Amino acid sequence: MPRVYVTRKIPPTGLDLLRQSCDVYVWDGELPTPRDVLLEEAAQADAILTMLSDRIDSALLDAAPNLKVVSNYAVGFDNIDVAGATERGIAVGNTPGVLTDATADHAFAMMLAAARRLGEAERYVHQGEWKTWHPTKLLGQDVFGATLGVVGFGRIGQAMARRATGFNMRILYTGGSSAGAVAAELGAEAVELETLLRESDFISLHVPLTPDTKGLLGVDAFKMMKETAILVNTARGGVVDSAALVTALQEGQIAYAALDVTDPEPIPMDNPLLTLDNCLIVPHLGSATTTTRDRMGVIAAENILAGLKGETLPFCVNPEVFEDES
Ligand code: GLV
Ligand code: GLV
Repeated sequence: MPRVYVTRKIPPTGLDLLRQSCDVYVWDGELPTPRDVLLEEAAQADAILTMLSDRIDSALLDAAPNLKVVSNYAVGFDNIDVAGATERGIAVGNTPGVLTDATADHAFAMMLAAARRLGEAERYVHQGEWKTWHPTKLLGQDVFGATLGVVGFGRIGQAMARRATGFNMRILYTGGSSAGAVAAELGAEAVELETLLRESDFISLHVPLTPDTKGLLGVDAFKMMKETAILVNTARGGVVDSAALVTALQEGQIAYAALDVTDPEPIPMDNPLLTLDNCLIVPHLGSATTTTRDRMGVIAAENILAGLKGETLPFCVNPEVFEDES
């Protein structure tokens, strides 16, 4: 039976599916598989099921002569050297689709939480500061009727925009070249990034991390934004220049940031963002619902089962691997 290594304990449905036809080894630590263990396991594996916290680089691929599939338990795959995998004929899979709505729900929740300062408000209660109903403390911003800028109008960006229609928001977006019909349905306007930054009350990031999007929001971008703007990042930390963000929040170039992702992850405890009241940070929870994580496991397993049979993965990042063979 083919040997499959799974770098973290994922929900059981996907693992059970793999176990029907593979020898499955699962790292069951609370922290990622250590690099040396991962290298040893990859050396013996026909497929690996990886997390976004595992670095799958050329050194690892070189150490894995039998490897046919790298199946990432995520929609993003910036942790994987995809070009290197393609060169070696290794298929790379991801788990799009099933996490779209969970992630958009989470982005919307982060937006509402930042607008109404829920993180600060919770600390206020826990610290015993709630002495009476207060007419002017912890005032936030209106979401209903405000302008939302969606940076990256793919599956998750579109789902975020769909939610915003229920809040009567004006919706601006960038990217999503094939999204015209959805945009028309939602009443979303395609604009240049600069226009989006200048006109939005809320800016939500939904682009993958690539060389093109690394540091997309930097010093100049924050200067263009409204002083009342709220940034929501559920995409990847690296899309934002962290130092520029700290300055923007400290100097009031923008009002607030709600971060589900940071650069690096986890955020070091001495990072200045952790000292700012106007920054809400949670630990990369976009897809974190029971149902979604279960479905991601099934897709990650199905990607492996297909790849081990030499079939195109249902969700393949580098399908050219299969075209080359035919
Ligand atoms: C989460 O960040 C993912 O890419 O699935
Ligand atoms: C708030 O609770 C109100 O009654 O206005």
